[in-house]
Amino acid sequence: MSNYIINTTKKYIENYNKSIAEPEKFWSDLAKNNFSWYERWSKVLEWDFKKAKIEWFKHAKLNITVNCIDRHAKSNPKRTAIIFEPNNSNEKQKSFTYLELLKEVSKTANILKTMGVKKGDRVCIYLPMIPELAFSVLACARIGAIHSVVFAGFSSEALATRINDCESNVIITSDGSFRGDKIINLKSIVDNAISRCSSPQKVLLIKRTNQKVNIIPKRDILYDEIKSKVSDECKPEIMDAEDPLFILYTSGSTGKPKGMVHTCAGYMVYASYTFKNIFQYETNDIYWCTADIGWITGHSYIIYGPLCNGATTLMFEGIPSYPNYSRFWQIIEKYKVNQFYTAPTAIRAIAKQGNKFLNGYDLTSLKVLGTVGEPINIEAWDWYYKNVGNSRCPIVDTWWQTETGGIMISSIPNVIPDKPTFATKPFLGIQPIILSESGDEIFEYEKVGKLCISFPWPSMARTIWGDHNRYINTYYSTFKNKYFTGDGAYKDKLGNIRITGRVDDVVIVSGHNLGTAPIEDAINEHNLVAESAIVGYPHEIKGNALYGFITLNTENFDENILMKQINEIISKRIGPIAKLQKIQFTKALPKTRSGKIMRRILRKVAARDIGDLGDISTLLNPNVVKEIIANSQ
Ligand code: PRX
Repeated sequence: MSNYIINTTKKYIENYNKSIAEPEKFWSDLAKNNFSWYERWSKVLEWDFKKAKIEWFKHAKLNITVNCIDRHAKSNPKRTAIIFEPNNSNEKQKSFTYLELLKEVSKTANILKTMGVKKGDRVCIYLPMIPELAFSVLACARIGAIHSVVFAGFSSEALATRINDCESNVIITSDGSFRGDKIINLKSIVDNAISRCSSPQKVLLIKRTNQKVNIIPKRDILYDEIKSKVSDECKPEIMDAEDPLFILYTSGSTGKPKGMVHTCAGYMVYASYTFKNIFQYETNDIYWCTADIGWITGHSYIIYGPLCNGATTLMFEGIPSYPNYSRFWQIIEKYKVNQFYTAPTAIRAIAKQGNKFLNGYDLTSLKVLGTVGEPINIEAWDWYYKNVGNSRCPIVDTWWQTETGGIMISSIPNVIPDKPTFATKPFLGIQPIILSESGDEIFEYEKVGKLCISFPWPSMARTIWGDHNRYINTYYSTFKNKYFTGDGAYKDKLGNIRITGRVDDVVIVSGHNLGTAPIEDAINEHNLVAESAIVGYPHEIKGNALYGFITLNTENFDENILMKQINEIISKRIGPIAKLQKIQFTKALPKTRSGKIMRRILRKVAARDIGDLGDISTLLNPNVVKEIIANSQ
């Protein structure tokens, strides 16, 4: 147990040093003593960044659901595992004990088996934030199927792309989803997606909204009907440490989304260890992460990390503004939430409404606050600290990525002090390094460079599904022998790390990663569009918003109609989250002599930072910059 709980600065320093000096011994001791294995490993770590080959706990055998459920169902069967708070505060909430969770997961696992799902098969999950989403994820893990959860805000085309990419043949969905006062018909989105799928599909349909939906006999299986026919016991599949556990798609700066592959053992150990310490979770605490399980935050810190620690994890179906902006505080008061983990974009949206929605709620149960997904600005940090935490709760600003599987850089309450807007220090075993363009380490304080990681950690993604070369090229080829994060960062005098944002063509809008190239590809499909360039610019609530510079192949067009059509195409191809906030039609785009669009200039124009545009002498058409500035919004 000794190095599992890090609750003093001394323990952190001692164990961090051990984790760097003898990583294999460190992780081996930790894994041995705190998890349940069928067989131990023959080797702790084997790695080669050049080939992007990473293996942890080689040849070990386990099932992650035994660690997340069975062992707690045995020792504490009545402990609450999941609390479900519905979208509508008038609807009754539900809770599931660890024993109940075991039965629900086993039933869902048996249903999947009757549908023909076997170890290694991919199962696509397209569900709202209902308990069945957690059951489905864990059911896949139980039988060794690889889950691919697709955020239920993605369009049918985006869903189809993800289904086709991993060649899954089973989709778990629901009739619909409640989001604030809206009902979204998920089943019709799935039906539409299936019409674009290259292989036959089966659908497991869960009832949520009770809308009338189209049922295709034999293809669509009704969860409620089949559930009563299957056993509530399901033997866990014995998995190899390096068998894939799940695929989760994330946007790349170019091309189609990348299916990041996470494997069983390393992911389990790291997600679990970080959860316990970064949130300083203690038995019987009520922990709430507001993310959607469609993102990595939900995978690691709603499901796997908390459950592995026998925690009580709250799942919220709704949105912060419904029925009004008090919803989060009402939930914290109702359940006496102890740890609250959310995104800066949510904090900004709520803070903008003023304090009237917060006043009167009892938030004294809170011990730790957290943020994730994007840099937090000082105003939002202050507001969160003073008003939500009553200047009492430490804030963990957790930096990590879909690719990293778990939190990499963060303060630890009462162990590593927080510093507003800084992610601060690496977690145990993490070796961050900030490099210059030429690959030299930057030692100067406050000088921004590229954030890399120089040594493997257990929960790192192992590959991109179906495209290992892309995995090598994206993460391991920019700097020799380093994992490149795609983020910029700098250090202060005390070694605290501040993340400055993406350094590639990924823009983070309301905490969602969006590659600009796929959006441009979608827009360019419009028959009047000649070319487009999308850039991000700072936005008060969303952190960043998208600005599109578009050239047309006609001079006859109705600007308003065209703007609407362009955003409709984006919604259809990717989803409403990728819509452009601003669109500027322009005669030309600034290009270098080799024909490359100079996005640097467009970024400055969009950010209204046109004082110094840098060297534009290499532009083929410098005059176009004046026109773009004159017409900018
Ligand atoms: O740019 C960083 C930003 O989010 C990116 C990863 O996005 P995604 O894979 O969707 O995972 C989000 C949830 C882990 C990073 O490359 N990011 C994430 N957390 C922070 C952050 N930027 C600044 N501060 C953070 N705490």
